[in-house]
Amino acid sequence: MSQIRGDYKSVWTALSGNKEDAYMVVSGYTDEEKFHADAEDTLYILGETTGIKATDTFLEIGCGVARVGRVLSPFVTEWIGCDVSPNMIKLASRRLLGLTNTRLQEISGYDLQPIPDNSVDVVYTTVVFMHLEEWDRYTYVLEAMRVLKPGGRFYCDNANIASPEGWAMFEASRTQFPPQKRPAQISKCSSVPEFEAFFTHAGFVDWHVKTRPMWVYGWGTKPGAK
Ligand SMILES: C[S@@+](CC[C@H](N)C(=O)[O-])C[C@H]1O[C@@H](n2cnc3c(N)ncnc32)[C@H](O)[C@@H]1O
Repeated sequence: MSQIRGDYKSVWTALSGNKEDAYMVVSGYTDEEKFHADAEDTLYILGETTGIKATDTFLEIGCGVARVGRVLSPFVTEWIGCDVSPNMIKLASRRLLGLTNTRLQEISGYDLQPIPDNSVDVVYTTVVFMHLEEWDRYTYVLEAMRVLKPGGRFYCDNANIASPEGWAMFEASRTQFPPQKRPAQISKCSSVPEFEAFFTHAGFVDWHVKTRPMWVYGWGTKPGAK
């Protein structure tokens, strides 16, 4: 049965019906130790971009099985994981057992309801934008702006079409799947100009867009004193 890419809830609920499928679609492997090590790398990147403070409330858009939340939550006041898939949320809740400063929220796939305005210090999203249409990426950038406190920080990333790895991914998908057979969750790259446009139009200040092998990533601050 073919699914519509933008029907994120049905696509991602179907992809995460059991633990193994969910791990594979989140990371491409099921090894818990590698999962943990990769999450440490994400923590390092967040530390270098948004910074991580003990007083911060962090929110992740598309948290999956809480790969990052489990490692990040001991360093912050609260970690809120949001995901479109109720199956991912269920698996995340099992991985977070005993971590009392974590909270999970199933979301529509298009916004951060019911997170209140001006309530979070850091919003981040990693390995998620590649699965979204550009419009829906940007709507999440706007939603991040809404839920962040003044002075709050936002981070996002995606595969970079201008990198050799991003181009290889683009070509692999182009040649592997004829147009009518493309999986709904197929990865689509971003670019530095796309991220620059998002940060500019959403009104973030002090923003940066950079690249590292395979990736484009950016971070910025919501205007206003903290
Ligand atoms: C590749 S996984 C990455 C998970 C997590 N960010 C990580 O790095 O471990 C993509 C996640 O995004 C979620 N997702 C897909 N579309 C979404 C949407 N429109 N809104 C929120 N989450 C979404 C999926 O359910 C899945 O958990």
